Amino acid sequence: MLLSLTTPITFFGGKGGVGKTTLAAAFALDASERGGRTLLVSTDPAHSTGDILGVSLGGEAREITPTLHAMEIDPEAEADRYIADVKERVRQVASPRILDEVEREIELARTSPGAEEAALLDRFAELMRLAGSAYDRVVFDTAPTGHTVRLLSLPELMGRWIDGLVSRRRKVRSLGRMWRNVAGAAAGSAGAEDDPILDSLEERQERFRTARALVTDPERTAFVFVLTPERLPILETRKATAALERSKIPIAAVVVNRVLPGEAEGAFLARRREREARYLEEIDRDLARYPRARVPLFDSDIQGMDGLRRVIAALEGAA
Ligand SMILES: Nc1ncnc2c1ncn2[C@@H]1O[C@H](COP(=O)(O)OP(=O)(O)OP(=O)(O)O)[C@@H](O)[C@H]1O
Ligand SMILES: [Mg+2]
Repeated sequence: MLLSLTTPITFFGGKGGVGKTTLAAAFALDASERGGRTLLVSTDPAHSTGDILGVSLGGEAREITPTLHAMEIDPEAEADRYIADVKERVRQVASPRILDEVEREIELARTSPGAEEAALLDRFAELMRLAGSAYDRVVFDTAPTGHTVRLLSLPELMGRWIDGLVSRRRKVRSLGRMWRNVAGAAAGSAGAEDDPILDSLEERQERFRTARALVTDPERTAFVFVLTPERLPILETRKATAALERSKIPIAAVVVNRVLPGEAEGAFLARRREREARYLEEIDRDLARYPRARVPLFDSDIQGMDGLRRVIAALEGAA
């Protein structure tokens, strides 16, 4: 069920600690072995993707196997990189007279709400484009739910944010032009119409539009929700799936992870299993509209390729 998803782009989301990173890595490994060049992208600041794969990862893709590459991106670093990039572009074209003012404006944008998300989304958009070119598939392991849902609805949200910035920028510029006219300065002289900020904002506006079109297209993007059969993850999943549906982001599958295995024995586990059975029923009822898979609780943490293969085998059994 999960392993038969074939969209070029797959996102894994869910509450903290439910197994997103583990399942995204297992899924990516399986996808890469079925013949598709696969890129696994993690936005997890805790670097657990690298831990699972037993390598250290950074902002550039690293080869894990010939068909599986992986990277970890850091939202803060992305935002800083983006700001530095804009500043550099501005420095090249802005006149020294307005440079200070423009730099202040950029700094302001860096600390304004949404800047980090915008930078991260920008990077996502860039990586999403690799699905179908440098890679056959790109698998995103995202940060815990609240954040993920926000991020995925971002093309929409950010679209508005950027639209706001663009129109503000346009206003500032037309005011500036008016002022120059009144002051009798050489309005319209060569280069006066260049606006690197506006250009970069508009470029971004366009990228968000493309990203939005991609994440809402079920042929291109699948969103997989991971949860455990427990009260809080169920509540959070209910909210998050509703939020994604509102954003018109299709949910392709739900994975129920850490289901107590049948062979586990003892009075304590029997009680737990009873409770779990109720939660599993609740999940089956609540999330009936999505394809579901179950992964058992293993007797140890999942580490390395062998660990991932155990997860894949469990998913194959659940198919
Ligand atoms: N089915 C399972 N059986 C046993 N251990 C598991 C199982 N699934 C995940 N784990 C272990 O649980 C821990 C958390 O899993 P993982 O890092 O995948 O969760 P996460 O949702 O990515 O967490 P975070 O929200 O912090 O990013 C890891 O140590 C992992 O090895
Ligand atoms: Mg994780």
